[in-house]
Amino acid sequence: QKHLLGIENLGPDEIIALLDLAEQYVDLNRRELKHSDALTGLTQVNMFFENSTRTQASFELAGKRLGADVMNMAMQASSIKKGETLIDTAMTLNAMHPDLLVVRHPHSGAVDLLSQKVNCAVLNAGDGRHEHPTQALLDALTIRRSKGRLHRLNIAICGDVAHSRVARSNLILLGKMENRVRLVGPPTLVPANFAEFGAEIYEDMHEGLRDVDVVMMLRLQKERMDGGFIPSEREYYHRYGLDRDKLSVAKPDAIVMHPGPMNRGVEIDGEIADDINRSAIQEQVEMGVAVRMAAMDLLARNLRATRAAEPIEA
Ligand code: CP
Repeated sequence: QKHLLGIENLGPDEIIALLDLAEQYVDLNRRELKHSDALTGLTQVNMFFENSTRTQASFELAGKRLGADVMNMAMQASSIKKGETLIDTAMTLNAMHPDLLVVRHPHSGAVDLLSQKVNCAVLNAGDGRHEHPTQALLDALTIRRSKGRLHRLNIAICGDVAHSRVARSNLILLGKMENRVRLVGPPTLVPANFAEFGAEIYEDMHEGLRDVDVVMMLRLQKERMDGGFIPSEREYYHRYGLDRDKLSVAKPDAIVMHPGPMNRGVEIDGEIADDINRSAIQEQVEMGVAVRMAAMDLLARNLRATRAAEPIEA
């Protein structure tokens, strides 16, 4: 692959190969010396047009641990504020010969469009409601390490599915790996057309969580609700917030996941989020660095092979 734009473009074998490589980076990251030279000589530019803690920090760390020269563009201080378009900004950076461009953008499809205008490898760090591929890959690695496999599991994705690129990428990935996915939430946040992904839809948490292996919670993404219906947080927590009572119907060894940022007392009880016997939330963050190292390593290998095969100009 030239770019990593979405899980949609990956086959099951490519997903497994990436996770296997990420396992090596989990080991590397736990050592005192965390350095590899997979990206030595390459330049990585991070362009985040939307706020981020986990994704931006882990892409930056991943690049540095692989030996890349990493630049974080301060988009709030860039000429975007003077009216420069996304494409003109990308073309300007492209003229400086970056090798890897990591992009987060509030509009679905913006990262794909940008990838068509530049010569380097582009990684989607989240575009609108569309996809967040590295999040789904780090979730997959977390599940595989906890459950010992990534197939034939019952997985519930709960809450604001409609506005979530995390849910969409996970639905696609978990479907490709032949898991049974349930979507749990009110019809305003889990529209019936999501059944097209092969998922079962539940409105009631006690029914949706019964006997599942994994419970994946989502934040209410008010920034993408476009003035539509926003539920009251108290009412929402009562019906859809993950607490001990609702979790009790899942399998006794079911893990709890959340991509972050989480709103304690809205979609999840803080005590469950912090329960080291059930919560995989911190492990997800750890896997994020390893998965992003693996993704950039694989794209860099492809980039170098493509360049080596190009005819030398006279
Ligand atoms: N999960 C996730 O994308 O978190 P950030 O918005 O903090 O990057």
